[in-house]
Amino acid sequence: MKWAAISTWKMSFDGCKKTLELLAEGRKCDESLIEGVCMVEDEPSYTSVGYGGLPDKDGRVTLDGGFMDGDTLRFGAVGCIEGFRSPIRIAHSLMNYEFNNLLVGAGAEKYAEEKGFEKRDNLTEKSYQKYLSEKDKIETLTSYDGHDTVCFLGKDVSGTICAAVSTSGLYMKAHGRIGDSPIPGAGYYADSEIGSAASTGVGEDVIKTNATFRLVNKMAQGLSVQKAADETLNEIMKRLADCRSISLIALDKDGNYGVATNCDFPFVYGSDECEVSLYMARFVNGKTVIKKVDDISEVTLD
Ligand code: GLY
Repeated sequence: MKWAAISTWKMSFDGCKKTLELLAEGRKCDESLIEGVCMVEDEPSYTSVGYGGLPDKDGRVTLDGGFMDGDTLRFGAVGCIEGFRSPIRIAHSLMNYEFNNLLVGAGAEKYAEEKGFEKRDNLTEKSYQKYLSEKDKIETLTSYDGHDTVCFLGKDVSGTICAAVSTSGLYMKAHGRIGDSPIPGAGYYADSEIGSAASTGVGEDVIKTNATFRLVNKMAQGLSVQKAADETLNEIMKRLADCRSISLIALDKDGNYGVATNCDFPFVYGSDECEVSLYMARFVNGKTVIKKVDDISEVTLD
């Protein structure tokens, strides 16, 4: 394939379509992915990313994001950043430095302010009302409530592969908590000579198992992208007795995709050979089963 992109959850459909249009125009992988991720960050109805993201226990919306360029293995990332429009744009810019590629909290905000990144209060009235109505019953929330990272993987016409992820993280997380999304090898990984992977799910479990590096490494050892995804998830579930929700997307250096999940997981894929479409991945009898969705309005999961 000349170009291809895959992204997590139904909420990424329009963004992935945009990314594919840009890739088709011959635009670079990084800028094409960032346009797509930003569309998700800017949409207030998605409560797990950017504007409208659900707050932490203290009622603050703090965001995580990561970007990796597969040609150079350079990465940039931010964790627990508050008050800025686009964590993915800030993360991407951090890739250009030799050191200080992952910044968190006040340090990340100082950097973003100095570099002139656009500010925004990401707490919407809807998210605040949900927080107010649930803040006294945290123990009844499951770890996965309101918790869907947007991940984009792409390949451009020159063969460059990149990964981009953005999230508001676990709903009602402790203030200061960061998940897998800013951590290369956990939330995302890209190597243009092999392929890329990204994860959505409970970050602590993804970090424990270095899920995306593990997956890309399996491709390096010769496994197909789907087999690498399946084996990675199986190993994680075997090793973590109490493994919670994890979904993995992957793209090989030729633009083929693989997906493995232990929950119901919609994702989007398209390429120069295959029109952008929504797919549903389900965990059935210990295996990921993937079906193309003909009517996207039928899928209610974001
Ligand atoms: N996977 C996102 C998080 O755990 O924050």
